[in-house]
Amino acid sequence: MIDIYFLKTDLLTSKSEQKKLCSLLGYEIVRQAYSAFTGKDKASAEFAVLNNGKPLIKGADNFHFSISHSGNAVAVAVSSSPLGLDIEILKPANLKIADRFFTQAENAYIFDSPTDTNRRFFEIWTKKEAVIKQSGMGLAQGLEGFDVTDTDLGRWLCTLEKDGFILSICAEKAEDFRIIEVENPKINNIQT
Ligand SMILES: CC(C)(COP(=O)(O)OP(=O)(O)OC[C@H]1O[C@@H](n2cnc3c(N)ncnc32)[C@H](O)[C@@H]1OP(=O)(O)O)[C@@H](O)C(=O)NCCC(=O)NCCS
Repeated sequence: MIDIYFLKTDLLTSKSEQKKLCSLLGYEIVRQAYSAFTGKDKASAEFAVLNNGKPLIKGADNFHFSISHSGNAVAVAVSSSPLGLDIEILKPANLKIADRFFTQAENAYIFDSPTDTNRRFFEIWTKKEAVIKQSGMGLAQGLEGFDVTDTDLGRWLCTLEKDGFILSICAEKAEDFRIIEVENPKINNIQT
């Protein structure tokens, strides 16, 4: 089972501070999910970062998570096996990115549907990001080297829409998932 925690923050902040705030909120959600998942105190969660940038909780071998933020939204996916998550606000797409970074098959999928081009662009974008976050390699993996429309990719991918955002998850195999809406926490309750 994959739990997807979703929070739209209503805390007023400048745009430049928004990323920092969403990052803090993301780790706070991970702490709470870790506590719910393991029964341990959330304060015992000790974070570390692998060389490729992928964060983890030390010693929590069966607890996997992936964080993503976009605009004022934060999403965190949690499971017992490695997974990747990406969320993007649905806005007019810069389609030049598709030409530059997406495969021919991905471009065909996007442009074959004149009425759904924009959403499909973000579906491919978030799927690609979810794959490189699941593997943990980040952008070092190269976006052109794999095709998320390929049914032989060897990963399970799923895309959903929520409150003006599009979100994709990537896991080793198909899993059930549920979305858990997170209430805005009181800022003084957040560990930094
Ligand atoms: C860092 C990267 C993994 C995700 O970046 P992003 O999409 O800009 O940001 P997101 O909010 O979705 O994800 C950020 C979170 O990913 C996690 N993360 C960072 N490196 C990671 C890695 N190698 N593997 C897994 N997760 C990683 C961290 O938890 C980070 O949150 P934090 O900054 O609060 O610690 C990487 O893919 C990147 O830099 N992408 C740039 C976006 C781009 O150009 N995309 C092209 C179109 S597909």
